Amino acid sequence: MKKATARAHANIALAKYWGKRDEALILPYFDSLSVTLDAFFTTTSVEFSDVFEEDSLELDGEIFRAGEKEFDRLLAPLSHIREQSGVAESMRAVSKNDVPTAAGLASSASGTAAFVMAAAAAAGLNVSSKELSILARMGSGSASRSLFGGFAQWHAGTQNDGSDSFAEQLVEQDEWPEFRVVACIVSKKQKKVASRAGMKQTVATSPLYEGWKQQAPLDVAAMKQALAAKDFTTLGQIAESSFAQLHATMLSTNPPILYMAPASVEVINTIWAARETGEFEGYITMDAGPQVKIFCLAHDVEAISTAVSAVSGVQEVVVSSVGPDPTLLSEHLF
Ligand code: PMV
Repeated sequence: MKKATARAHANIALAKYWGKRDEALILPYFDSLSVTLDAFFTTTSVEFSDVFEEDSLELDGEIFRAGEKEFDRLLAPLSHIREQSGVAESMRAVSKNDVPTAAGLASSASGTAAFVMAAAAAAGLNVSSKELSILARMGSGSASRSLFGGFAQWHAGTQNDGSDSFAEQLVEQDEWPEFRVVACIVSKKQKKVASRAGMKQTVATSPLYEGWKQQAPLDVAAMKQALAAKDFTTLGQIAESSFAQLHATMLSTNPPILYMAPASVEVINTIWAARETGEFEGYITMDAGPQVKIFCLAHDVEAISTAVSAVSGVQEVVVSSVGPDPTLLSEHLF
């Protein structure tokens, strides 16, 4: 039977990716660095069979087909998997998110990573994590990093065919057991500007993008050193600066892109004020949505959770440790 199920975890970038030098292959301008999250994951079952009339993806109970963006994200990896394996039957995929979909908590990353892992296995392909990372990248750039637990770096690469643009694990899941991410959910609505369209517009129009492009490799290099030394303060400071550069660049896009909600700004101010007084040490990050994520160490989780829960507009606080590698599961969703 050509059927397999995989589970992959979401990741949050400490050093951000935003902007492609190749739109079709999804090749970024610079490297990014992420932590995989234990608490947010996607499980996906894929089957190839003549029984199915057409390719489809059922995502949290809703069915998508070619022509719809949830499905079309998977087209490039799927056609590569078909080419490499020779599998010609129609595909059914069923996917279950344990993340608030498209609310800026990287469900596209865990979803795409789980999909490529399950689809490659269902097609009988025996491929390395590096090759799966390349396949996932073609679906959603940040998904390249969800093929690894712990901390990962996505190499931008220099080749035009994308063969050297993949993620690689830097630090394993259990190497930094005190590391935490506190996610503050301020809205569960779908984001206003999809990352694909938003980043294209940023590259085309933001006068700040060029400066960030120069700075990003320096940030990644310094961050790797801090990570290797488990120097949380330096890591946090660079991560917060990468977040600030991402959102300043978004805001300087024409027309401007603003993902922050009033509650996001309140959370940021709360964290910064408490850091200044030495109450706790947390560093802010945000992606293409209003959710605020705070990097911290285990001993500050309680104080940070209490502080952000008191901010009006914060609907939910989810604490995550460092997550594992993706895995194949023997139980299928259908
Ligand atoms: O891979 P995409 O298209 O979901 O892009 C996501 C980009 C950010 O999440 C905003 C930053 C990142 O590096 O994950």
